[in-house]
Amino acid sequence: MKNKGIRILGIESSCDETACSVVVDGRTILSNSIASQADFHAKYGGVVPEIASRMHIEAILPTLREALSTAQLEYGDLDAVAVTKGPGLVGALLVGISAAKAICEVTGLPLVGVGHIEGHIAANYLADPDLHPPFVCLVVSGGHSHIIYCKDYTEFEVLARTRDDAAGEAFDKIARAIGLGYPGGPKIDRASQGGDKSAFVFPRTRFPDSLDFSFSGIKTAALNQIHRMEQRNETISVSDFAASYQNAIIETLTEHAILACQAVRCDRLCIAGGVSANTQLRSVMHRESIRAGIRFSYPPAILCTDNAAMIGSAGYFRYRNGTRDSLSMNAYPSLPID
Ligand code: KG4
Ligand code: ZN
Repeated sequence: MKNKGIRILGIESSCDETACSVVVDGRTILSNSIASQADFHAKYGGVVPEIASRMHIEAILPTLREALSTAQLEYGDLDAVAVTKGPGLVGALLVGISAAKAICEVTGLPLVGVGHIEGHIAANYLADPDLHPPFVCLVVSGGHSHIIYCKDYTEFEVLARTRDDAAGEAFDKIARAIGLGYPGGPKIDRASQGGDKSAFVFPRTRFPDSLDFSFSGIKTAALNQIHRMEQRNETISVSDFAASYQNAIIETLTEHAILACQAVRCDRLCIAGGVSANTQLRSVMHRESIRAGIRFSYPPAILCTDNAAMIGSAGYFRYRNGTRDSLSMNAYPSLPID
């Protein structure tokens, strides 16, 4: 009989997506169900933690059922349950963790806790079946901006991090200020198409002897510029402003990611996290990687933003190296990657 592979049920609930997925051998997606709450948070301009927790409770069982039925499997066909244990909103994380524990308690399946950032990185294994460590990964999301040296499937070294805001936050805040709404990243991405990226000049922060990021300066400069123009009753060209602002962030991310590859002598580069869905970031990184002799790949947009297939993949590699968590596992809102 053909080997069925190791089937992992992945569960993700760290922010505003309730997601469940079945993944085989960390590489093949059998199902990828996502219940997004983004529309409910949009009217508040950002994620409201209390609303997120309540909505996860409502969505978790239907999403689990959908993931299993799409995969045409039952709990008894699985090998383990992987769940995001942090970082994220504590009330939101606890919903996924409680569901995972309940399944493990009833079925006897092993529980594998997974870091959310590690999950984002693993989305690249789902996209490229030939990707193996070592490689460098730029992880850019609503809460994180890291450059990580992935030495092995479960061994990571942080080469750079943000010292203040995450890239996604920088997108979300300015999108709100120019009236595009939440979530800002995809809206700035769309608005900037056709815009003039040299229409506005924004500062770029660099630290001596470090590839760390800082996005608070560019964010404040953009807000000041908006206020100045409003005071002078000048109309802001949303597409020019979005294109210039996005370009400044993307150039910084790309430059640091390529320098990081060169620093560790690695010629393989990936991206992960919600901001990595950005169309301009993908094309600029592609172009600059070729110039630098680096092979670059990225996941499809649906695997860049929060999903559970990435947790099923990262969970497989943890399962394979023997990670088993107890049913007293907690949520870790500030879980570090290293
Ligand atoms: O990874 P993710 O779904 O959740 C977190 O772990 O934070 O990332 C969400 C972030 C938000 O800030 C959103 O605005 C940003 O990713 N984002 C984008 C794009 N799609 C989502 N940023 C830029 N361009 C996009 N196309
Ligand atoms: Zn995320």
